[in-house]
Amino acid sequence: MIDNYNKIIAVVTGGGSGIGRELVRQLASAGADVAFCDLSPETVEQTAALVREESPNVRVLAVQADVSSEADLEAFRDAITTTFNTDQVHLVINNAGVGGGGSMFTTERADWERTFDIVWGGVYFGTRVFLPLLTAAPAAALVNTSSVNGFYASIGVDRPHTAYSAAKFAVKGFTEALITDLKVNAPHVSAHVVMPGHIGTRIVSNSMRAMVTEPTPEEAELMLAAAEMFENQAPTSAAEAAEIILDAVQAGRWRILVGDDAHRLDENVRANPEGAYDQPFFTLL
Ligand SMILES: NC(=O)c1ccc[n+]([C@@H]2O[C@H](COP(=O)([O-])OP(=O)(O)OC[C@H]3O[C@@H](n4cnc5c(N)ncnc54)[C@H](O)[C@@H]3O)[C@@H](O)[C@H]2O)c1
Repeated sequence: MIDNYNKIIAVVTGGGSGIGRELVRQLASAGADVAFCDLSPETVEQTAALVREESPNVRVLAVQADVSSEADLEAFRDAITTTFNTDQVHLVINNAGVGGGGSMFTTERADWERTFDIVWGGVYFGTRVFLPLLTAAPAAALVNTSSVNGFYASIGVDRPHTAYSAAKFAVKGFTEALITDLKVNAPHVSAHVVMPGHIGTRIVSNSMRAMVTEPTPEEAELMLAAAEMFENQAPTSAAEAAEIILDAVQAGRWRILVGDDAHRLDENVRANPEGAYDQPFFTLL
């Protein structure tokens, strides 16, 4: 467990946008040296420029990497150990993710598997690659981002959501199981699972960038309209989400629901698990 971000080395995946960018900014302003990666070289540079301007006294390492590739994450780790001249890190936040992979019937298999490989593979490889560096630190925390879709596999009564939900359930189960694994084998490292509700980010349009199949112009137009609504109608901002996550990790909480909507959904699913996918349940959302 860590109780302070000042002078630690923190690692964030998916730091080019949304919650990841805000985590990087807030960690740097709290005095942490921060290494982050993202798929998109442009957004990597944008976050790096922002943080260097806002927090000139900390070290920032910005790397282009695909979290679904273990080799990319190993190269990211090697860049961290070389640049920061260290064999340990104190905080790893496996945050990168994409939406997509809705249906087993209508989604191209390659897109379904791309979503699953990023959302689950990114957390799995991120944990494998960074665990030795976390374990080498005197105290450390591993934070894996799941979702409310890690305990509830729907985004609407008639909207299939299979790959993302399956991957987020895997992230939640894996991280909960790690609590015991770490207690037994590395009790100075804590594990935390993050379950955001609806957060105002560009995840919908960013996810289009990561897909294998090119959308038709009509599909792209519909997705961009949906992306704008998703970003603008969210009850919680990316900056608020990052603050909730960092406060909870510092307070030692492992089960981090983000947003009132996430708390409400958690309570509703627990109150009525059998009815959770029936029409009346959706009026509660
Ligand atoms: N926004 C929400 O409502 C919401 C809700 C629940 C969970 N989440 C989760 O929060 C996390 C952050 O999402 P966000 O909303 O900030 O979205 P975002 O799109 O703003 O940020 C995600 C970042 O991850 C990056 N990324 C995607 N695939 C990658 C890959 N293969 N390798 C490296 N980087 C990659 C993207 O380029 C992007 O910069 C994700 O895991 C997401 O699933 C978001």
